Amino acid sequence: MFAVPENTVAGADTPPTVHPALIARQYAEDRSRWAHLLRYDPDERYAVLVHHTADQEVWLMSWLPGQRTDPHDHGPATGAFTVVSGELTEHVLRDGRTHTLVAGQSRVFAPGYGHEVRNEGRDPAVSLHVYRGVRTMNSYPRTDPAHLRRAS
Ligand SMILES: [Fe+2]
Repeated sequence: MFAVPENTVAGADTPPTVHPALIARQYAEDRSRWAHLLRYDPDERYAVLVHHTADQEVWLMSWLPGQRTDPHDHGPATGAFTVVSGELTEHVLRDGRTHTLVAGQSRVFAPGYGHEVRNEGRDPAVSLHVYRGVRTMNSYPRTDPAHLRRAS
């Protein structure tokens, strides 16, 4: 038997060891952390930085019906997002699968994970996003049939 020195064991509440989906959910449940920042922008999806540390950012986003991201990835970052209200649809670029998320549901992403998120519902949606590592957003052209129909 041997003893593990105290400083080699990360505590469960140490931010880098807490799963980003749990962080997103904790923020979602504590509206006092972000309610004063919430806005709806009729021109584009609204996003505001709620909290950041050296290696983590927490963003609040609002989505009016029809608002969406371009297809994108987050480079080397990992993270998660949780729907607070409304409904969001995520299209995963790698496998073409679509996931519809309602309040309380989350999706997680790893480096290089590509997706597109949109509000296809009738009501505004609110979500919280946690990014770990260098947050980048590499956008791709839209190629889905719905977009091509709108563009033509
Ligand atoms: Fe994303």
